[in-house]
Amino acid sequence: MLRGKSLLEPMDLTVEEMEEIFSIADDIMSDPGKYIHCADGRLMATLFYEPSTRTRFSFEAAMHRLGGSVIGFSEPNSSSASKGESISDTVRTVECYSDIIVMRHPKEGAPRVAAESCKIPVINAGDGGHQHPTQTLTDLMTIKKYKNRLDNLTIGVCGDLMFGRTVHSLIKAMSRYKNIRLKLISPKELVIPDYVRKEVLVKNGVEFEEVRRMEEVLPQLDVLYMTRVQRERFFNEDDYIRLKDTYILDTDKMKLAKDDMIIMHPLPRVNEIAKEVDRDPRAHYFHQVKIGMYVRMGLIYSLLGLEV
Ligand code: CP
Repeated sequence: MLRGKSLLEPMDLTVEEMEEIFSIADDIMSDPGKYIHCADGRLMATLFYEPSTRTRFSFEAAMHRLGGSVIGFSEPNSSSASKGESISDTVRTVECYSDIIVMRHPKEGAPRVAAESCKIPVINAGDGGHQHPTQTLTDLMTIKKYKNRLDNLTIGVCGDLMFGRTVHSLIKAMSRYKNIRLKLISPKELVIPDYVRKEVLVKNGVEFEEVRRMEEVLPQLDVLYMTRVQRERFFNEDDYIRLKDTYILDTDKMKLAKDDMIIMHPLPRVNEIAKEVDRDPRAHYFHQVKIGMYVRMGLIYSLLGLEV
């Protein structure tokens, strides 16, 4: 039963609960008209302390498409956070007006503080370099749709594995499926954090290999998950400039990949996938964007206990 729960990290949902959300999202995709009034009178608050295009718009579109309404801010300086109000006081205020809160924050753990401060569901829409569970729901549903399975996969994760919260959440979630082989492709400065290596991969016996060159593993992959180097998390601009173009997927490199490999990216992209690759039928990152809205509709539907 998901009603009333918060979603702060992927493991807050069991595999069965994720399947339930995918199944609702699938049903909404095939018959959206059935759901257009199910959230009538319900209100979502989107508290975005960091920039976003996909996550905020997809949540807001999802709520509107279910018949609900949205309030919120996309710029913390337009809220009383700029006067020094705490997260806890902000959400205690916002819960007086709304039924569910979606929060993005640069500080790791901020959505957890929010969830502990109020009684309505809080959804983590990305906290610092930590977790991004609704991107993971999107990613899993995309893999399921285009590879027909979540077990028995060789997945390459490429780019900024140190700061990429989508990567940390995806690796956590995939560790629960059978026969997953991860190829972790990054420069040595941007390898996965130790806690992910030890607490997730080693602890769960997930097969993984850390490599520097994409070409080395590309022919083996069923899924290639590209990520950008996260400029906003660097302390030093020179390091960012030195590392930002380490990996650029282009049509030449795609010749090494299997015919049925799928390319994913949480977006936004910078240079890491050349525009020419967009025409490759294996490119699914804009399909992923669309799936993100439906999966968030399924999530809102479940957490609010809506009915059709
Ligand atoms: N994937 C993702 O989180 O994109 P935004 O930063 O645009 O929300």
